[in-house]
Amino acid sequence: TTQTTTMKTENTVWHKPQISKLQRAELKKQKPALLWYTGLSGSGKSTVANAVDALLFTLGCHSYLLDGDNVRHGLNGDLGFSDEARVENIRRISEVAKLFLDAGLVVSTAFISPFASDRALAKAKLEEGEFIEVFIDTPISVCEQRDPKGLYKKARAGEIKDFTGIDSTYDVPVAPQIHVKTDTQSIEQCAEQIVNYLMAQGFIP
Ligand code: PPS
Repeated sequence: TTQTTTMKTENTVWHKPQISKLQRAELKKQKPALLWYTGLSGSGKSTVANAVDALLFTLGCHSYLLDGDNVRHGLNGDLGFSDEARVENIRRISEVAKLFLDAGLVVSTAFISPFASDRALAKAKLEEGEFIEVFIDTPISVCEQRDPKGLYKKARAGEIKDFTGIDSTYDVPVAPQIHVKTDTQSIEQCAEQIVNYLMAQGFIP
C-alpha cells in the first residue's frame, strides 16, 4: 500500500503555499510544534495528551490532538495491528500531523507508535526542532494492572494476537525530548511538565 500511495504523484506538481506556516502560527503568537506521544497501551498517552491540549487551550494556544482510537475509527479504519499495518498507520498519521503543522498549530499525536524507525521517519518529514518525542513511560505491569479496556486480559488469554508488549515489539525511546512517568506523577504534573517544556523552548509565550 505504501508503494501505491507514493508512486502516483508522478504527474502532480507541488504548490508552494502563499502564506507560510510561521505566518499562520504568528497569528497566535506561537511556533508550530508536534508533540509525538509514544507509550504502551494503557500507559496514559490519551489522558496526558488531552490534559495538555486542554491546558494549551486555556492558555490561548491553537492546538489540535490526533488521538489513537479516534483516528483508527475513521481515516485508518482499514488498518489492523500487524507490523505492516502499524507502519502504514503511523505513516498516515505523520502526514496528517504535518498538514496540521503547516496550518501553524501545536499538534499532538497519541499513538503507541511502537517502532523507533517509524518515529524517526515522522521526525524526518518535519523541520528541525519541530518534532518533540514525549515518552509516556509506564511499566507494562502497571498498564496491565490498569487494563482500562480489558485488552491485556484478552491478549494473555490468546484472544488478541500481536499485542504490544506481549507478542508485538515496543522500541523504548532512546533520547525522548520529554520523559514522563505516570506511575509516580499525577496527570496534572505530567501536563505541566510538557507545557513548561513548550514555553521554555519558545513554542508558546
Ligand atoms: S499503533 O501501534 O501505534 O499502530 O497503535 P495505535 O494506533 O496507537 O492503536 C492502539 C490502540 O488500539 C487498541 N488495540 C491494540 N493495541 C496494541 N496491540 C494490539 N494488538 C491492539 N489491538 C487493539 C488499544 O486500545 C490501543 O489503545 P491505547 O490507547 O494505546 O491503549
